[in-house]
Amino acid sequence: MSDETTPATHHTDAHERRIRSFVLRQGRFTPAQQRAFDQHWARYGLDYSGKARDFVATFGRDASRVLEIGFGNGEQLLHSAQAESARDFIGVEVHRPGVGRLMNALADADVGNVRLYNHDAVEVLEHEIAPGALDEVRIYFPDPWHKKRHNKRRLIQPAFLELLATRVARGGRLHLATDWAD
Ligand SMILES: C[S@@+](CC[C@H](N)C(=O)[O-])C[C@H]1O[C@@H](n2cnc3c(N)ncnc32)[C@H](O)[C@@H]1O
Repeated sequence: MSDETTPATHHTDAHERRIRSFVLRQGRFTPAQQRAFDQHWARYGLDYSGKARDFVATFGRDASRVLEIGFGNGEQLLHSAQAESARDFIGVEVHRPGVGRLMNALADADVGNVRLYNHDAVEVLEHEIAPGALDEVRIYFPDPWHKKRHNKRRLIQPAFLELLATRVARGGRLHLATDWAD
């Protein structure tokens, strides 16, 4: 959603790791978006609480767990959840219209193994996801900014990968796709 999100600041110090890979420019919440949230957030939404979440309780089962970060409009996540119905999927996306669109599609297809955060993935990983709670992380085309001065603001950088590694169980997998060689 490069038209509505742009990279912002990156700050690292001894006490706090902070990667801010986006700035939201979302404007008004449209009636269609509002309807999607009114109708489907209770089923599919996870409110950011800042505390480690019990995903067995959330999904009502202890299944293999996949996190997709920055799912955009969610086509890939919808497809995966339907194709891999024995697994549970957690999507994280800051772009609210994308979250609304995916919730509509999930509800239309009556998909039950997906939950979504409309929140910063760095904060979700730091505070909501316990160490070793994930079996796989998927990130597809996360960084649309090709200018050198944006390098420090990319999501995919060492501090973020270190954080990710702590959240994935031993033997787990990171599936990362990008068209940017650096
Ligand atoms: C270039 S788009 C790619 C979308 C989708 N994965 C695809 O392949 O079409 C990158 C997405 O990552 C989201 N994003 C960027 N930083 C994020 C963060 N820190 N937390 C959650 N989502 C983020 C953006 O809002 C955007 O939707």
